[in-house]
Amino acid sequence: MNITLTGAAGNLGSVVCRKLVESGYTVHATDISYRSDLPVKIDVADLLDISSCYRVLESAEAVVHLANHPSFQGREAQRIHNENVSMNFNIFEAARQMGIKNIIFSSSVQVFVGDRHWDEKKETESSLPYLPVDGNVPPLPGNPYAISKNAAEITLRYLSRHWGMNCTALRFPFLIDPEWLEHIREHRKRHGRSGPWPGQNIDEVFTYLLMTDAASLIDAILRAKLTGFRTYFPVALDHSVETPVSEMIAKYFPKVPLRIPAGEIKHLVDISAITNDTGWTPVRVLG
Ligand SMILES: NC(=O)c1ccc[n+]([C@@H]2O[C@H](COP(=O)([O-])OP(=O)(O)OC[C@H]3O[C@@H](n4cnc5c(N)ncnc54)[C@H](O)[C@@H]3O)[C@@H](O)[C@H]2O)c1
Repeated sequence: MNITLTGAAGNLGSVVCRKLVESGYTVHATDISYRSDLPVKIDVADLLDISSCYRVLESAEAVVHLANHPSFQGREAQRIHNENVSMNFNIFEAARQMGIKNIIFSSSVQVFVGDRHWDEKKETESSLPYLPVDGNVPPLPGNPYAISKNAAEITLRYLSRHWGMNCTALRFPFLIDPEWLEHIREHRKRHGRSGPWPGQNIDEVFTYLLMTDAASLIDAILRAKLTGFRTYFPVALDHSVETPVSEMIAKYFPKVPLRIPAGEIKHLVDISAITNDTGWTPVRVLG
């Protein structure tokens, strides 16, 4: 299968590129930045340029679209929002016109976590509609980056509904590699910290995902030949903190409706739909 992979020079894109090549796909890797350590050559292209989008999609049967500004961090709101929205629509619309039926897109957990940052002293309330959460939580974007991801999800739903395309939006949590994860955990243990990681929101429900697991999920989705539109929230099987789940619910989510009795909740996220649809489960469980 011929796949165009955008954002291939990025942190996630490089891991996905290696995984897809290893799995036997013919990968057309593209990015605005160049790097020379991947198994295929990067085709340098700016996805803000519409004509480049048609060129990088030639012969593709599926698009794995990971290129975007990957966060907001309070800077350059217009540029981050506008460029993400433009590059996403440019590539999606070119794919539609060229008859490419399959799109996998890197959305973000930020699509549904609102605009609060956890502050122990203020005891901010969760705005999650239910626990355990899953990929179907309604959007509640709280910054310009999250709005751009929400816009992409709306576009993919439209392409699926009106043009019969098969589109999956992956609402990734914090993506990390194993060494970094162990380092963060060690550091926090030493300093007696147990709340959300810096920059994370309580409604991210103490999640993370290893980059290698994100790559194997993309591989699994391509194999599963999913139809229609779906949003997934794929996470590691453990949490980013070691606090028991019942304590986390009591402390951070006392008013959130529970879909099963608290004592039966093993994880704050239900990934069973992803596993049922694709056969994927995260392989690394640490801590
Ligand atoms: N890293 C995380 O924790 C995380 C979490 C949730 C979602 N995501 C999403 O996953 C994707 C990959 O994230 P990442 O961490 O690898 O980020 P990254 O910045 O390492 O990779 C993004 C790539 O997109 C490329 N790019 C940006 N503008 C471009 C343009 N105009 N034309 C072509 N390429 C362009 C960049 O050069 C970069 O290589 C992003 O869409 C990000 O929003 C990441």
